[in-house]
Amino acid sequence: MCGIVGYIGDQQASKIIIEGLKRLEYRGYDSAGIAVLNGKLEVKKGKGKVSNLEKMVTSAQNGQIGIGHTRWATHGEPNDINSHPHTSQNGKMALVHNGIIENYGTLKKKLTDQGYEFYSQTDTEVVAKLIESFLVKDNRSLKKAVQHALHQVEGTYGIAIVHSDYPDQIVVARKGSPLLIGVGEGEMLIASDASAVAAYTDKVVYLDDGELAVITKEGYTVESANQIELTKEVHELALSLEEIEKGGYDHFMLKEIFEQPKAISDCLRGRINSEDGTITLGGIEDVMDKLVNAKRVVIAACGTSWHSGLVGEYLFEYLAKVPVEVEYASEFRYKEPLIGEGDVMIAISQSGETADTLAALREAKARGALVLGVVNVVGSTIARETDAGVYIHAGPEIGVASTKAFTAQVTVLTMMAIKLGLEKGTITKTRATELITELSRIPAKIEEVLEDTTEIQRISNLFSYAPNFLYLGRSYSFPVALEGALKLKEISYIHAEGYPAAEMKHGPIALIDEMMPVVVIAATHHTNDKMISNIEEVRARKGRIIAISTSENTEVADLAEFTTIIPETMDVFSPLVSVIPLQLLSYYIAVNRGCNVDQPRNLAKSVTVE
Ligand code: AGP
Ligand code: GLU
Repeated sequence: MCGIVGYIGDQQASKIIIEGLKRLEYRGYDSAGIAVLNGKLEVKKGKGKVSNLEKMVTSAQNGQIGIGHTRWATHGEPNDINSHPHTSQNGKMALVHNGIIENYGTLKKKLTDQGYEFYSQTDTEVVAKLIESFLVKDNRSLKKAVQHALHQVEGTYGIAIVHSDYPDQIVVARKGSPLLIGVGEGEMLIASDASAVAAYTDKVVYLDDGELAVITKEGYTVESANQIELTKEVHELALSLEEIEKGGYDHFMLKEIFEQPKAISDCLRGRINSEDGTITLGGIEDVMDKLVNAKRVVIAACGTSWHSGLVGEYLFEYLAKVPVEVEYASEFRYKEPLIGEGDVMIAISQSGETADTLAALREAKARGALVLGVVNVVGSTIARETDAGVYIHAGPEIGVASTKAFTAQVTVLTMMAIKLGLEKGTITKTRATELITELSRIPAKIEEVLEDTTEIQRISNLFSYAPNFLYLGRSYSFPVALEGALKLKEISYIHAEGYPAAEMKHGPIALIDEMMPVVVIAATHHTNDKMISNIEEVRARKGRIIAISTSENTEVADLAEFTTIIPETMDVFSPLVSVIPLQLLSYYIAVNRGCNVDQPRNLAKSVTVE
C-alpha cells in the first residue's frame, strides 16, 4: 500500500527520495518520513502529505544514503509518532515497512520483557527493535541480524533499513509486498514501485518473496530465504516520465479519463484483425487449448477490477458459452474453493500487486487450475506469478480511482471472449469479423463522449450536494452501474449504490423519493423495454432520473429528467462507452465538493495487505 523509496550514491539522497515519494504518494498518504545517514542518522517524519515532509527536510540533511516512506496506516492512527521510519532504541538504525506484521503482539511482549521501549502503536516498530536485539546481542552483521529477525516475523513486508554503523549499505527484504532495485551507475535506488526510480534509471531488478538484498552504491547482492546468493534478471523499464505526470490536466484522474481512447487503441494494437476476423493474444496463445477445454472460468479480482470481471462473465458466457464465476478475491481464498485441474482462473488487477488477488491466484494454482492474468503493470507480482496472461497496456494509472484500467481490462476480456468463441466454434468467423470491426471503432466512440462534457458538468453541478445516489443497469450495464456508484463513493464521499435495475423493486425502491438522483444506464438494446418499465417505476415515486442513453433511444430521453447521450454500439461493447459519463460525473461532483480527487481519504492505489 505504502510507498518506499531509497537512494545510495553521490547525490543528495533526501532530494531524490522526496521526489520519489511524491511519485508514490498515490500508494498511501497518511503520513510521510525520511531517514538519511549523514555521519549520524537523521529522521524527519510527520502526519500529512509529502509536501509537508519536504518543508521539514532542511539542507542540513545532506547525506548520500537514505530511505523514505509514505504510509497507509494499518496499525495505529496516522500521526507523527506512527509515521515511518521507525528507529532502533539506540537511534542508529531506521526502518520503513510496507505490509502487516501479524505476530507483532507476541514479539512486542518479548522485546518489552528484554527492556525495549515502544513509542508507536504500529506493528512496524517491532521489526526495528527485533533487528536491533540481534545486532546488539550477537554482534552480527546488519544483514545477518535482519535475516534472523525476519525468521521470527509472521505476516507480510517490504522493508528497507539504514544503519549509521553501516553507512555504505541499504538492506531490503520482501515477503508479500513489492520491492525493486533501480540499477544506476555509481548509484542505486530501491522502491516499491517503478515510477519512483524511472527518472534515474531504466534498469530494474524485481525482488521475489523471501529475498533479501544488500545495496551499495556500486551494486547489490540478493539472497534467497535460505541464504543462497542469486543472480537476478535485470529488466528494462518501458516507462516514460511524461506518462507519470499530469500533462496539463488538473488531476491524474481527469487525464486518465481522457486517455481512454488512446489506452484502448494501445490495448487493441497488433491484436485484432478485422480483415480476417482473427485475434492474436501473444501471452495466452500457448494455453489456448486449455482455455478451450476449460470446464469453467473463475474470475478473481477486487474493486473496479472485479466490476470488469463481471462484464467478463457476460462476455464469456454469451460469446464463448463457458460457465463463469466472478469471485471477490478476498472471499475466494477462505471458502475452501472448489477449483482444480480443468478450471481456469483469470486474475484481474491493474497494479498486479493486490494482496487479495495474489492470494486467490496462489490458491487456485496450488489446487491445479491454470491461472491467467489480466494486468496493467508490467513485471508486477501477479503478472509474474500467473501461468500466462494478457497485459492491458493502459499506461501508468496514478489516480486512485481507476478509470482507464477498467475500460482496458474490459477490452482485453472482450478480445479473450471473442477469441475463445472463435476457437470453440460458438461464434462464426463472420460474426467475429463484425464484432472486431465494431470493437476497433470504440476508441472513436469514447472520443465522441469526451468531446463535449457540458451536459454532464451541468448535471454534476445540480447534484453535487445530494447525500445519496442510486445507479441502475441491466445486463452489461449492471456492472457499469456498480462501477459508477463505486467511483462516486470513492472520490466524492457520497453514498451510492449500484443495482440490477429489476432488483430495485425488491428493496432499494423504498429509498426513492423526490430527493433521490437515480442514474439509469440504458445502453443495452436487448433489455431496453424492461429498463423503460424500471424507469417508470422510479418516476412514479418521483425519483430524479439521470439517463445514460443513445440518441436513438428517444423513449428513455423522454422519460428522464436529464439525459447524457452516448454513441450507439453493440450491447457487448456498451460498458466501454457508457462508463465514461459516469467517470466524468463522479469527477466533476468531487471537484465541486472540494474533494482530493487523486488521493481520496482512507484509500490507497494498490492494496498490498489482506
Ligand atoms: C478503484 O477505483 C479502486 N481504487 C479499487 O477498487 C481497485 O480497483 C482495487 O483495489 C483493485 O486494484 P487492482 O486492480 O490494482 O488489483
Ligand atoms: N503496517 C504498517 C503501519 O501501519 C505499514 C503500513 C503501510 O504499508 O504503509 O504502519
